[in-house]
Amino acid sequence: MDNRKHVGILFSALLLLLICPLIAHAEQKTENACITCHRFLGGKLAKPVSEWKGSIHQQNDITCDYCHGGNPNVTLGNLGSLSQKQFAARQALAMSRSNGFIGVPAGKAMFDTCGQCHSESVDRYTNSIMGKAYLDNKGGPSCVACHNAHHNSMPDVPKVCESCHKDTSGFDRIDPMNVNQTTLNVLSRIRIQIAEQKARGNKPPLIAEFPKELGAFQIGFVAFGAVLVLLVIGYIIYLVLENRR
Ligand code: HEC
Ligand code: HEC
Ligand code: HEC
Ligand code: HEC
Ligand code: HEC
Repeated sequence: MDNRKHVGILFSALLLLLICPLIAHAEQKTENACITCHRFLGGKLAKPVSEWKGSIHQQNDITCDYCHGGNPNVTLGNLGSLSQKQFAARQALAMSRSNGFIGVPAGKAMFDTCGQCHSESVDRYTNSIMGKAYLDNKGGPSCVACHNAHHNSMPDVPKVCESCHKDTSGFDRIDPMNVNQTTLNVLSRIRIQIAEQKARGNKPPLIAEFPKELGAFQIGFVAFGAVLVLLVIGYIIYLVLENRR
């Protein structure tokens, strides 16, 4: 074995040693009454748990109760062997309004929930055209329409916009959380640019799905063909001239 291989193996081993405790740590942190019971219930009620696992919020220890309220520290015991009444009592304890349970946040309550930690983002969206359309019940998207409720991620723009907007050209170049009058001006300028580019003959390639390398190959092929044709024509002209003499 050469030295580089040795270094590679040593490096991998070190990396493993570093990562293992991190994984173990993350696993052991995320357990409470909300998670245990909802996982136990299965189906639709367990879906938030599986989606939340591995999310940026789970990685930052933002558990169910941060967004829904309630008491996550209820002692559950063995859920499988509880009577219906005992089960209901524990559920009531964890999910009681008196313990701050707010249920499923919607409308202004959702903004307040997220705003505990993302106040700048919430303010930005609250004052935008779409944020107002959401709060006024006029069909604007909620935070979780774009970011998901339990696996918060950055949306795929403009794909996520297509459920409500037909014309999404230029949407990938604006901030969707801050659509205001200025944005509309910028957007119409961007759209004029795009239209001009199209008109200038920035046409889509004939065979759209061909990858770039093949495009270059095709160009080469056509160029080669053209040179060949020119040579043949030249030769014919030469022959004609030769015959005349
Ligand atoms: C002992 C079991 C149990 C525990 C503990 C529990 N839940 Fe639930 N949860 C349920 C059941 C059953 C339902 C569905 C029936 C219902 O809404 O009463 C539910 C429903 C919900 C809903 C939907 C409510 C709605 O109005 O649609 C939310 C949100 C929720 N739970 C959050 C939590 C949070 C947050 C915690 C921890 C603080 C928690 N749960 C702890 C059993 C539990
Ligand atoms: C970052 C905030 C946040 C966290 C953390 C969170 N939820 Fe939710 N949850 C929401 C929001 C917002 C909704 C409303 C979804 C909607 O309007 O589509 C929701 C909806 C629900 C619902 C109603 C059914 C559904 O899927 O829409 C249940 C049940 C639920 N959450 C349980 C949980 C449990 C259990 C946990 C912990 C594993 C959890 N949530 C963690 C924000 C959160
Ligand atoms: C208790 C605090 C808390 C609450 C409540 C909360 N978040 Fe977060 N959120 C965080 C933390 C911490 C992070 C990870 C650090 C960061 O990037 O800011 C995060 C990250 C995110 C990200 C990814 C940001 C990025 O830069 O990649 C999104 C999107 C997000 N949250 C949306 C929401 C939404 C929507 C709600 C309400 C339904 C919500 N959060 C509620 C604390 C919270
Ligand atoms: C129409 C889709 C859409 C809606 C609705 C939306 N967001 Fe975003 N959000 C995005 C996109 C796209 C980005 C990334 C680009 C950017 O930073 O503007 C983002 C970025 C974020 C970030 C990262 C930091 C930041 O501010 O750039 C957080 C946190 C966040 N959003 C939370 C929220 C919360 C909370 C709400 C509701 C009050 C919300 N978003 C509503 C699309 C949306
Ligand atoms: C749930 C539906 C919904 C989704 C998803 C959505 N929008 Fe909107 N959007 C609206 C509504 C409703 C209005 C307000 C229409 C009005 O009042 O003129 C609006 C207005 C706008 C406007 C200003 C005027 C216009 O119609 O062009 C822009 C720009 C915009 N949205 C961009 C986006 C972008 C970018 C995304 C994706 C990241 C997005 N929207 C996703 C519903 C939605």
